[in-house]
This record gives sequence, structure tokens and C-alpha cells, in this order.
Amino acid sequence: MLNAQLLKLNQSFGIQGQLSFRDAGDGFIVMDIQNDQCVASVALQGAHVMTWQPKDEAPVIWMSPVAKLAAAKSIRGGVPICWPWFGPHVSDSNLPAHGFARTSAWDVISTSKLENGACQISFCLQHQPNTSWPYATRVEMHMMIGAELEMTLQTYNLSDSPMVIGQALHTYFCVDDVRNIVIHGLEDCDYIDKVSGSVRKQQQGSIVVAEEVDRIYLDQGQDVVIEDFNLQRRIHIHKENSHATIVWNPWLEKCKSMGDFGADDGYLGMVCVESANADEDVVTLAVGDTHRLSVRYSLTA
Ligand code: BG6
Repeated sequence: MLNAQLLKLNQSFGIQGQLSFRDAGDGFIVMDIQNDQCVASVALQGAHVMTWQPKDEAPVIWMSPVAKLAAAKSIRGGVPICWPWFGPHVSDSNLPAHGFARTSAWDVISTSKLENGACQISFCLQHQPNTSWPYATRVEMHMMIGAELEMTLQTYNLSDSPMVIGQALHTYFCVDDVRNIVIHGLEDCDYIDKVSGSVRKQQQGSIVVAEEVDRIYLDQGQDVVIEDFNLQRRIHIHKENSHATIVWNPWLEKCKSMGDFGADDGYLGMVCVESANADEDVVTLAVGDTHRLSVRYSLTA
């Protein structure tokens, strides 16, 4: 059954020498990409980018060394897709944090090799109304994986009523040492500080991470840059139709308590900078409308 599924995926969507599908264990299917510009991997579950490493660069996307790849479980690292809500559900604490897209099985709808040498991959999640999300919805994730990584999350409201969605591309970025980075682009923005009881604050200057950080920056549509002094590089985050940015690092105690970060100091090598529409900045989608949230990640020295 699994072999037949892998064979079909490789026949229908594999690209000779560049893109193939494998079983990462217990039927958890991962797509491997290797082209002239990068190496990367994407899990079918959650349409979840797990790794991305442009040629001659250190990895850009962080993945926990002990991440569990299992059906219906979220993966610690990569780019989880939070959808159709961000964080806890507004009224039902039994529903999963960050929605169900990240733990759902997505379908591959197309793959291709682009003229610039990158790979294009599209996934879709066709949702039938149920108790956790009573709206007929189609969600697509379009990726361009090469020297840059582009992702577009597209939501179609196929139901007969407007719907409110929260969403985030919850990207875990690799840094050499989170204590020696600066995050630019959020200066003067208001944010909800989840570490201090969700009080509203205003960012003074650039962000330096020296303790647990869990913040939702609001009304923030501009690009963000992670400057990594040890790796001597900048990660540029260009975004469109995203009005919130989440910055998260669990720091020591939370990292230890979560148990899926690897070493106790596993938090030092990552920072999440999430391009989102969340909290006050959720999106109302009219009947028949489509919403596109896009990001593009690139590096400079
Ligand atoms: C962040 C939230 O986006 O995700 C944090 O702001 C949360 O509060 C973190 O702890 C990780 O969430 P999860 O569900 O993947 O453990």
C-alpha cells in the first residue's frame, strides 16, 4: 500500500535527479529536493517545509534533532502552517493549538522545474465542514524552493457565510547563537507580550533575545531581517498580506519542559519569526473570496 503510494507519487510528481519521495518511517512521507541552488525537504503532512539549505550556506530552517515525524502530530521545527486559527482556539480549548492544517494530510497538486533552476511545488487541503471548522474551504500552499524560499498560503472560502481566519507561517530559523542576533523591522510596533500576561507594549529599538520571548507584533506589514553576527549573514523576510509578526524563543526552562528540542540548550540555535494574521489582525473572508499570505526568504552576507 505504502510502496504503491510512493511509486505513484514518484511517477506523477518526481523530477529526475531533483525531487523524489521517500518513507521517513512508519509511512511518514517526505519529499526531498536537490537542485543547483539548494537542498530541502518537505513533509506531505502539513505541507511542512522541514529543511532548506541554499548552496554554500549553513541551513536556514531549523529542525529539532529529535523532532518526531508521526501521523497527526506536529513537528518541532521547519515551517508549520498555522491555520485556520493561530494559538489557542478562541472558544474551545479542546481544539488543537495553531489549528489543524499542520497535522492534516495535504495532497500534492503539481511540481515543476523552473527556468531559474528552482523547484515549484503546490499542495492543497480540501476541508469539508465539521465541528472544529464549519466552513467548506480549500487551502493551497505554493512553494518555490531554490536560492530563495517562497511560500504562498492561499485560502478560498467555498462556504455560504463569511469566515474569520487566523494564520501563520511559523518558521523556525537557524541562528548560530540566539543571544548574538538582532531582529530588525519591528521597531516602534505595538505587541502583545504573551510572557507577561498578554499585556500590550511598544517595541523600543531592534529586538535582542536575552530571555523567553513570545510576542505578537500587530499592524506590522513590513519586511523583517534577522542579523546573525556569528554566521555573518542576514536572513531577509519579505512578506505580503501579513499584518502580524510573531517572535518566539522558549528559552531554557520551557525548552527543557517541552522535551522535543534535543539538548537543554537546543533553544540557542533557533528563533521563530512568524509571518501571520493573528489576534487583532485576523482576516475576514467573504463568501467566494480568496486570501493570499506570501513570504520570501533570502540571505545576504
Ligand atoms: C508560538 C506561540 O507561535 O508557537 C507560542 O506564540 C507557542 O506561545 C509556540 O509556545 C509553539 O507552539 P507549539 O504548539 O508548536 O508548541
